[in-house]
Amino acid sequence: MSLGRNERLRLRTLDTSDLALRVRWLNDPEVNRYLSYELPITLDGTLEWFRRVQQDPNREELTICHDGEPIGFCGFLAIDRRAKKAEHHLFIGSRAHRGCGLGQIAYRELVAWGFERLGLNRIYGYQHVDNFAAQRTTHRAGWTREGLLREDGVYHGIASDRYLISMLRSEWAGGHRESR
Ligand SMILES: CC(C)(COP(=O)(O)OP(=O)(O)OC[C@H]1O[C@@H](n2cnc3c(N)ncnc32)[C@H](O)[C@@H]1OP(=O)(O)O)[C@@H](O)C(=O)NCCC(=O)NCCS
Repeated sequence: MSLGRNERLRLRTLDTSDLALRVRWLNDPEVNRYLSYELPITLDGTLEWFRRVQQDPNREELTICHDGEPIGFCGFLAIDRRAKKAEHHLFIGSRAHRGCGLGQIAYRELVAWGFERLGLNRIYGYQHVDNFAAQRTTHRAGWTREGLLREDGVYHGIASDRYLISMLRSEWAGGHRESR
């Protein structure tokens, strides 16, 4: 599959109709290998999670669409309006759409959403030290690796080292914005 134009990949607000896909994809070992979710994910638990998220002003949950069809999910948590910062998460759930460069475009759209719509100044996140695809993707999308956090994340019950990564508004405004 070709990379396609950026216009083919869009983010929109997460909808209840997306939740069954979210459950299916998060239970896929190819997706959850380097994610720190408590497995298995259930639809009932996800519906409950979504109800909480919708009430939480410090969260923004989004669906990644390609040609109008959901291919993954991303979003912001711990949105701090005073400090203008938030943590992010992102995954491409559709196997047919993983491994063809769409992750990089999704990261760029996520960052644009955070800076343009949420008015953030800093977006940060965590990456398992062995998650090379994610590291390569965010590096190419202009993110900075800030440091190594030792045994900071719990992945499949094991405390693991992970990197702290970030993107600042000034970096995005200074160049990465144009390359979208
Ligand atoms: C991480 C993720 C978003 C990347 O998106 P993607 O579009 O599928 O990325 P690709 O597979 O096209 O790979 C991106 C880059 O990583 C490289 N890469 C992939 N697997 C790699 C590996 N095992 N070792 C080194 N590099 C690797 C690719 O070659 C590519 O680099 P290039 O553009 O220079 O060729 C996607 O794989 C995903 O959702 N994974 C599961 C969930 C996840 O890990 N999310 C991130 C949590 S921090």
